[in-house]
Amino acid sequence: MNDVLINIYSRASVRSYKPDKVPDSDIKEIIRAGFHAANGMNRQAVEFVVIENKDSISKYNRKAINLFAEMSRASGHPNPMVEKMASDPKADIFHGAPAIVFVFTNPSAVTPVEDGSLAVGNMMLAAHSMGYGTCFIGFAAGLDKDPEFRKECKVPDGYKYIACMILGRPDGDIEKHSRSDVKILNWLK
Ligand SMILES: Cc1cc2nc3c(=O)[nH]c(=O)nc-3n(C[C@H](O)[C@H](O)[C@H](O)COP(=O)(O)O)c2cc1C
Repeated sequence: MNDVLINIYSRASVRSYKPDKVPDSDIKEIIRAGFHAANGMNRQAVEFVVIENKDSISKYNRKAINLFAEMSRASGHPNPMVEKMASDPKADIFHGAPAIVFVFTNPSAVTPVEDGSLAVGNMMLAAHSMGYGTCFIGFAAGLDKDPEFRKECKVPDGYKYIACMILGRPDGDIEKHSRSDVKILNWLK
């Protein structure tokens, strides 16, 4: 098996991190790999925000949990897992990671969700190849509605929130979950 395939098959979401700072040069390399993903009409509209400041991570962790809980209550079907997190002061959606990368697209994007998602996929694989762990954090999505978050992160109006990815050195072995068999619905030959 070639190195790229080995990297793809050995990646797994990491939810336990060493506190060590990720060097800026590595963060830049990982983001560059994200930026090099395929993107609709080559608009190159994906832009990034990095947060390493511990106070900010802690603040946005709590805000994201509360916002997610509000959204889930507003849906009329409060989620017990989200309610548990909301009442647990130690709950940490960022799993103790020392760095967080948020992905946005600027208004020139024609396929923002696809572009941003492909960027995250590239970043996860690039980071893994460099010995870092990552995890997509869907629970952070509520931050998109938080004016303080957008202001502090200098996200201009009109930019679309796409994703949140945590990054750092894994604390311990990466736990790789097995995948079920690939389902090919049809193969017309
Ligand atoms: C859109 C999306 C949202 C996710 N949100 C979270 C999350 O909020 N917290 C978390 O720990 N993992 C989250 N994950 C990670 C998934 O749980 C994980 O990718 C899945 O269980 C497969 O495991 P693997 O990444 O190790 O292959 C998310 C993944 C995706 C693609």
